[in-house]
Amino acid sequence: MSEATVTVTDNRTGKNVALSIKDSVYGEAVVDIAGLPKELGLFSYDPGFVATASCTSAITFLDGPKGELMYRGYPIEQLAGKCSYIEICHLLLNGELPNTEQLRKFKHTITYHTMLNESLRNFFNGFNYDAHPMAMMCGVVGSLAAFYHDKLDIHDAEHRMITAHRLIAKMPTIAAACYKHNVGQPIIYPRNDLSYCGNLVYTMFATPCEDYEVDPVAEEALDILFILHADHEQNASTSTVRLAGSTGANPYACIAAGVACLWGPAHGGANEAVLKQLAQIGSVANIDRYVAKAKDRNDPFRLMGFGHRVYRNFDPRARLVKETCHKVLAKYGNDPLMELAMRLEDIALKDEFFIERKLYPNVDFYSGIIYKALGIPVNMFTVMFAVARTVGWISHWMEMMTEPNQKIGRPRQSYSGPQKRDVPPLVERK
Ligand code: ACO
Repeated sequence: MSEATVTVTDNRTGKNVALSIKDSVYGEAVVDIAGLPKELGLFSYDPGFVATASCTSAITFLDGPKGELMYRGYPIEQLAGKCSYIEICHLLLNGELPNTEQLRKFKHTITYHTMLNESLRNFFNGFNYDAHPMAMMCGVVGSLAAFYHDKLDIHDAEHRMITAHRLIAKMPTIAAACYKHNVGQPIIYPRNDLSYCGNLVYTMFATPCEDYEVDPVAEEALDILFILHADHEQNASTSTVRLAGSTGANPYACIAAGVACLWGPAHGGANEAVLKQLAQIGSVANIDRYVAKAKDRNDPFRLMGFGHRVYRNFDPRARLVKETCHKVLAKYGNDPLMELAMRLEDIALKDEFFIERKLYPNVDFYSGIIYKALGIPVNMFTVMFAVARTVGWISHWMEMMTEPNQKIGRPRQSYSGPQKRDVPPLVERK
């Protein structure tokens, strides 16, 4: 059978070029446009990458119209129901779920990399007491390369894996240290008998003054949230990690770039923005007014936690987060924001504007209510997301590093500035 192609005709010159079509295992086939500049002297123009696949990847697949998500072929609902976050880390990083012995070893490896170099504690002292924890996290993660340069040969598979383990293990310790700095308490060392999420709860909320017992409801809720946030293919922060990595930058610098990108309210910062917005709406009586604002084309206001670039259906993660939210509130007591969120969801889902544009709640619509119930402050929400997403970022970086023809990521542009002109002498400039 001949190769599938799509033919592009330049109607200025009448020249045709056949571009080859490559099938994907799932989802849309892709057309290879790399030959366009040579054949037609044209670049493709696609702001926001709405129609552009930047790589081939075997890690995660999401079907936007159907609202399905799979890690390494396993549906997210099954993974969230049957696995722990640490098993998911193994799956994303190594391609397969661990067996009993692999899981024991992997847990051990991650557990024994959780401590930070003692000198890193000084970094936190340099930040103002009220520094945003995402600002601290960007800086501290970037600085890790200064401490762990013994295994920084990006062309050595063993070095890459050790760095991945270090990052996954140390991110919760860094997150907890950011929180402790904000509240003015001493940084707490992780405990090797606790689970990944158990340790995060412990290092955030324990103090040296008394024993602290981790609540299994909190530990389980975080574990589920972390599974749901672990990876999401070529989202903005993962693409940032890949772009940074394509230059040969060290992986700590790449993950710091991912953390910075995640911070924006259109991405990981949405969970913080949702809670602030719910508080701003204040009561069910005000919902209609805010929905009208969201629909007004002249008002920049958007319903945070609604809409997604790829999902044109319910975000499957949102359903699971909502279920977890109910469980957490059953233990920690109801939150008036939950009632407000559910009413807002109801109203928006019945509204023509949202139906037409296929705008549904995304993963972050309910996650903030869970974090709030667990006593995690609003400015830490995106930090929690960053901890969970680290495994996704580093798995993509590792995948990219093993590609045979890996190239530096370097988009082109359509220039819209002034035409060529001469530099006037200073005295003649207006
Ligand atoms: N509230 C109101 N209107 C919206 C919203 C929203 N949350 N999201 C999209 N729209 C409207 C847009 O105004 C636009 O309307 P138009 O066609 O009349 O111009 C249409 O829906 C399409 O929106 P785009 O901005 O073109 O969609 P895009 O795919 O570029 O944006 C995004 C996706 C950024 C997630 C957007 O939906 C948004 O800003 N949502 C709120 C922020 C949010 O929750 N982000 C978290 C995403 S999930 C994550 O990162 C973990």
